[in-house]
Amino acid sequence: MSFDEKIATVRIQAATSLDELEKLRVDYLGRNGELTRYLRSIGEMPAGERSAVGAAGNKMRQRIEKSLQEGKKKLQQLAILKEMATISLDITAPADSSDSFGHSHPVLEVIDELVRVFWQMGYTVVDGPEIETEWYNFEALNIFKDHPARDMQDTFYLEGGNLPRTHTSNVQIRYMENHQPPIRIIAPGKVYRNEDEDQRHSWQFQQIEGLVIDRGISVADLKGTLLAMMRGILGEQTDIKLLPNFFPYTEPSVEMHATCPGCKGSGCSMCSGSGWLELGGAGMVHAQVLRNVNIDPEVYTGFAFGFGPERITAIKHGVSDVREFWRPNFNFLEKF
Ligand code: FA5
Repeated sequence: MSFDEKIATVRIQAATSLDELEKLRVDYLGRNGELTRYLRSIGEMPAGERSAVGAAGNKMRQRIEKSLQEGKKKLQQLAILKEMATISLDITAPADSSDSFGHSHPVLEVIDELVRVFWQMGYTVVDGPEIETEWYNFEALNIFKDHPARDMQDTFYLEGGNLPRTHTSNVQIRYMENHQPPIRIIAPGKVYRNEDEDQRHSWQFQQIEGLVIDRGISVADLKGTLLAMMRGILGEQTDIKLLPNFFPYTEPSVEMHATCPGCKGSGCSMCSGSGWLELGGAGMVHAQVLRNVNIDPEVYTGFAFGFGPERITAIKHGVSDVREFWRPNFNFLEKF
């Protein structure tokens, strides 16, 4: 028995469709194919010839397989080119009028609004790293190891001792290290805490940090700034009150409460009947923090604040659970 490789190769190369090529593959290499039968017949040859003819036969099969593959590739490319020639693109056609347009995330929209309010007051927007050293996240802010204030912000630690920042206050230090007063910045960004989650707490959320350092800055400036910010975002009828609090990096420290927009101060379920909502922390920058970054506290004073945009967004839109904002729940997000 013999096999004519030349004729087989010519027929493969002349195939004009993938179906024809597949038929040839079965005719030559299928279980009962011509080449398969020829290779099987080598086993019946005299032992002396078998190995040389067998090796040549295997090489022949490899060449036929290669021709089939090349033929397939060529015919597939031809099919694509043929299809492309029949498709026409009308660049003047009107856009798809489907109503499923995207929109920006409600929390990021509130951040944008806050940025606009501060930008109008002449603040610069700055950025800082989300993975931070203990120095910038804690120590430069007077929060030393074993200080009870570290428990206020449960921390995820990374191998090697760095951490995903627990607040945006790290940016204060990084900015003051490289800039002399007057300083007027805000720093929005993500923060992470090893929290037990509930309606008002999630393990990852956004904050907006603010910092102002100049000669003669006082608590009155802080209060005026916070009021302008809250009225800018929650409406002109909003009022604020500052209650004593403790942060190791500000002295005095306050927590800021704003009039509940749900009831305009008369008391409702959103504010647990008090008429007020706690939205952030603030205070006058501690003298030691200024010394840590080589700013003379005898010459300069300043204030800092930090807010949670999720809580502000929840208030604005009447959302009762801040965790909803970062769940992949499009039914919820499409409402905004
Ligand atoms: C701080 O993080 C301080 N660094 C703020 C600050 C900055 C004080 C500068 C003084 C000077 P606090 O842990 O209270 O403070 O967080 C600030 C705000 O972030 C809260 O008022 C709240 O709005 C928001 N927030 C805090 N924890 C969570 C949480 N787990 N989920 C959602 N929002 C949160």
